[in-house]
Amino acid sequence: MEKLIVDLAERSYPIYVGKQLIDQLEYYQPHIDGKQVLIITNETIAPLYLERVKQALSDRYHVAEVILPDGEQYKTLVTVEKIYDALLTNKFNRTVTLIALGGGVIGDITGFAAATYQRGGNFIQVPTTLLAQVDSSVGGKTGVNHPLGKNMIGAFYQPKCVIADTTTLNTLPDRELSAGIAEVVKYGLICDKPFFGWLTDHMDLLVNRSLGDLSYAILRSCENKAKVVAEDEREGGIRAILNLGHTFGHAIENYMGYGKWLHGEAVAVGMVQAAELSHRIGWLTESEVTKIKSLLQQANLPVVPPTEMSADDYLELMAVDKKVIDGQLRLVLLKSIGKAIVTADFDQQHLLDTLVV
Ligand code: NAD
Ligand code: GLY
Repeated sequence: MEKLIVDLAERSYPIYVGKQLIDQLEYYQPHIDGKQVLIITNETIAPLYLERVKQALSDRYHVAEVILPDGEQYKTLVTVEKIYDALLTNKFNRTVTLIALGGGVIGDITGFAAATYQRGGNFIQVPTTLLAQVDSSVGGKTGVNHPLGKNMIGAFYQPKCVIADTTTLNTLPDRELSAGIAEVVKYGLICDKPFFGWLTDHMDLLVNRSLGDLSYAILRSCENKAKVVAEDEREGGIRAILNLGHTFGHAIENYMGYGKWLHGEAVAVGMVQAAELSHRIGWLTESEVTKIKSLLQQANLPVVPPTEMSADDYLELMAVDKKVIDGQLRLVLLKSIGKAIVTADFDQQHLLDTLVV
């Protein structure tokens, strides 16, 4: 087991990464106050992992569970209410610990329920997708979607710890594994050129689920994310670089209908669009754009946007992006591989040329 710390003063917490962690009480116990535990998971993950987590905790705690429907389309306030219902039905109070057992959807919903239940309960992230292990479980962004915009309702709220059991990835469908790899590639692009090089050499191993290589990629991704989050927890500045490809990607997810394109797939295309715009501006070279596309393709990710979206469709959806300030769209772009910046300083025509396939 390897341990990293997200360094946020009194809100600091460990990320445990290793094999067979989810049924070990020792990783949970130091982070649970009181006796009440509510595990939140979904109908796909429950038959695979719920019993193991319950068994680890049941002797010591009063454990209840909520099993939600599976899918991005359920990442809504209506679903959050089901968690409040379970908390109140069990008469759980503010000392309760919510455990998010699942991918980014479960993690984001659970974190938001924890942030808001009686003005703040504890929560633990037990991410079971690659995407959640390298990104969504770390850093405290929680929330749900609104029909008019992705992740529009939410809170910054840090977990007490993250327990990333790499053996849970054995049951992850290939398409979901690839979606997680998109966020791994993101770290190489925004701030870690040597890691981008490592990924170029090791992509086949990752796609073929070499657990050693996946563990390395998870640790390196979490190190990068923890560093950025420690510097700028509430996204006043540098943290926005973690959104490379997301402004375009969120527009695709929303336009296509939540759940049709996986988040990681939309981000992959969004990163290509950000790279192409960066090239039009004169920052990235053509050969760098080609390298980015072929790495994503090696991970079986899409690199071409959906043909049914017009430039106006993007512009309308991107106008509610959280990086927009006073009506001005800001984007995360690449000066080079390994160096991202957040900027509003791009030619509108270059953006339009990028959006039209
Ligand atoms: P997901 O949570 O929908 O999980 C993907 C699919 O895999 C689901 O069907 C799930 O039931 C299934 N699954 C999960 N673990 C499994 C396992 N071990 N074996 C078999 N099946 C398993 O999707 P995701 O890609 O994990 O997360 C995407 C979400 O994360 C999006 O809503 C996105 O907005 C959010 N996100 C949040 C942050 C953040 O900082 N909070 C960062 C990135 C993404
Ligand atoms: N996934 C973007 C962030 O955590 O800031």
